[in-house]
Amino acid sequence: MTTALITGASSGIGAVFAEQLAAQGHDLVLVARSQEKLQAIADQLISTYGINATVIVQDLLAEGATANIFSQLEVQGIDLDLLVNNAGFGTYGELADGELTTYLNMIQLNISVLVDLTYRVLQGMKVRRSGSILNISSTAAFQPIPYFAVYAATKSFVLSFSEALWYECQPYGVKVLGVCPGPTETQFFKTAAFPDAMESPPGQSLASPAEVVREALKALEQGQSNVVTGGLTNQILVNAGRFIPREMLTKAVGDMFKVN
Ligand SMILES: NC(=O)c1ccc[n+]([C@@H]2O[C@H](COP(=O)([O-])OP(=O)(O)OC[C@H]3O[C@@H](n4cnc5c(N)ncnc54)[C@H](OP(=O)(O)O)[C@@H]3O)[C@@H](O)[C@H]2O)c1
Repeated sequence: MTTALITGASSGIGAVFAEQLAAQGHDLVLVARSQEKLQAIADQLISTYGINATVIVQDLLAEGATANIFSQLEVQGIDLDLLVNNAGFGTYGELADGELTTYLNMIQLNISVLVDLTYRVLQGMKVRRSGSILNISSTAAFQPIPYFAVYAATKSFVLSFSEALWYECQPYGVKVLGVCPGPTETQFFKTAAFPDAMESPPGQSLASPAEVVREALKALEQGQSNVVTGGLTNQILVNAGRFIPREMLTKAVGDMFKVN
């Protein structure tokens, strides 16, 4: 039996990772802040799939969060075979009009916590010469996004970091994958306070989290360094920027994301 830890497992893409990994027979460690939601997901997956599921209620922005998670795993004798770094958030708006604390928390959760958990889990995986790390980036990683500037930049970090580690970890048999979903039907846009007139990024339809997770797990199995989920449309969107001068690209994206 293998064990997967999923951050942000209480809703959206993370909850679907929990479901699909349980269906494949993995034991789970579910991490997020919402205790009731996590427990309900764990109870349902235990009874449906007969797996073990451990709930760790943890605000990943709290001091000592990652050390606390790993000490709980140690006490319970759990070695991780798969880490899914999924917890993250964005916030819409002009940088100067938002709260500085929100941006710094975003960088902390989307980047620092992800690097911290990756570093900690790699220690055991390197010794055991096996394991997988799946980091959730975004199609936002491929171009600057005015009014979503910090978020897009954090996701560029996640993709670059994941691809570099994919190479570094090959000699000891650890797989690393950066997953780039396009707009997906979750709580994300509500949390990000997208304007009512713009419930999701303009001109793009929402994918189901089930599709995103299916494509991500397939890419992980195939040993890819990255995957843009959502088929040809997202492939075209993320590659379009390569052939356009950067300022022109940024202006086009900015015009799309601006509320007049
Ligand atoms: N939806 C999209 O369009 C989309 C597209 C590309 C990439 N992504 C990425 O996909 C990932 C999952 O997002 P989602 O779309 O599934 O959104 P979501 O439904 O809002 O889920 C976010 C998850 O992160 C957890 N979380 C947030 N802050 C946390 C904290 N401080 N400590 C612990 N857990 C925290 C939330 O749980 P609690 O509130 O219970 O803590 C929740 O489980 C994110 O990294 C996001 O950037 C989303």
